[in-house]
Amino acid sequence: MNPFDELESNVRYYCRRWPAVFSTAHNSTITAEDGTEYLDFFAGAGALSYGHNNPVLVEIAIAHLRAGKILHSLDTYTVEKRRFLEAMERHVLAPRQLDMVIQTVGPTGATAVEAALQLAQLVTGNRAVVGFDGSYHGMTYRTASISASMAGRTTSAHLKEFVALPYVRDVSESDLELLDRTLDSTVDGQRIGAVIIESTQGEGGARPFDPLYLRAVRERCSARGILVIADEVQAGVGRTGAFFSFEGSGLDPDIVCLSKSISGLGLPMALNLVRRDLDTWTPGEFSGTFRGNNLAFATSATMLETYWADSHLEKGTERRGVTVRSALDEISDTFGNGHFVARGNGLLCGLDVGDTQLASNIAAAAFERQLIVETCGAGDTTVKLLPPIVIDEDQLADGLARLRDAVASARQVR
Ligand SMILES: Cc1ncc(COP(=O)(O)O)c(C=O)c1O
Repeated sequence: MNPFDELESNVRYYCRRWPAVFSTAHNSTITAEDGTEYLDFFAGAGALSYGHNNPVLVEIAIAHLRAGKILHSLDTYTVEKRRFLEAMERHVLAPRQLDMVIQTVGPTGATAVEAALQLAQLVTGNRAVVGFDGSYHGMTYRTASISASMAGRTTSAHLKEFVALPYVRDVSESDLELLDRTLDSTVDGQRIGAVIIESTQGEGGARPFDPLYLRAVRERCSARGILVIADEVQAGVGRTGAFFSFEGSGLDPDIVCLSKSISGLGLPMALNLVRRDLDTWTPGEFSGTFRGNNLAFATSATMLETYWADSHLEKGTERRGVTVRSALDEISDTFGNGHFVARGNGLLCGLDVGDTQLASNIAAAAFERQLIVETCGAGDTTVKLLPPIVIDEDQLADGLARLRDAVASARQVR
């Protein structure tokens, strides 16, 4: 009996793309039970930015367990939570002059987005939400409803109080006019309470927004008392170089959703950063059993202390991002016939090959070359590259060479 086929739901997905049985992992390499080693340019859909089994964080986790420290704590006070809160203040909030409080929520990105939407409604009294084509915010009823990338899936949710604006790469007057009109509109009788945006879209195809547009969103929302929610679940925690993908753009969000890589070790953890004056929750108004993963607090605090006390990692990610982009440009020039588009921000990069089957064939050919890459974007035409941001530069070059080879072979098959 194959227990996966016999016992697991048909909904399983990634295992069909990568039909190996994985066993161990270190940094950017995962090893199957038959000993085959794969380079992982998917990194847990962005949850493993600090690599598989980051040795510094593994040591902290082992010490935590051996010492019998608290593991689960709801939102009671614990030593590890205090250390985590102080590390966030010292390494993330204070250096960026962010006067924000930290709301821990149940352990998924979707829960953080749910909480952000509810708070925006509480603060503004308005339920309707503006989002963007290609966005992805989760699989709960409300987060799926505001995930334009889910449209068309048979079971996707359809809350009416949502409107999706087009993705904006280079802002134009008509984009700004549409933004103004939309922010002033009502949706299903509801005024707009929040705009939610991924400054660099992940599932939408590694698409960074024009920073000028992000600034315009901020200004126009401020003028109307609409909250700006930055969904940094995939692009945050250093994925694009800076800790937040919106840094330097002027988006200046009111609420920031974080999850995926925030624990550093791939442990379940999510939180929102909330502008202090907007923190109008009453005690217990938003809850959840798994808001106190102390193992994750411990590894997260150490991740922040290890990687965010200086700009070394940020510069390294930017450098690696340039390496990836130039490799993708070269692949486009060589194989794209003018149809491929390389894009991205830091180490959230993609190669849009403009064809669903070709993108799928490239991912399959990559797997044959022991490289793990996923497809994403409208029509699944983009091959997404999301290696750990701590990847060894030789391994990065090796993975990019395997990708080139995979593109060359998939092109021949067509
Ligand atoms: C930008 C963004 N927001 C939210 C989510 C949902 O996170 P989760 O799958 O942990 O609910 C994701 C997941 O891919 C994401 O990429």
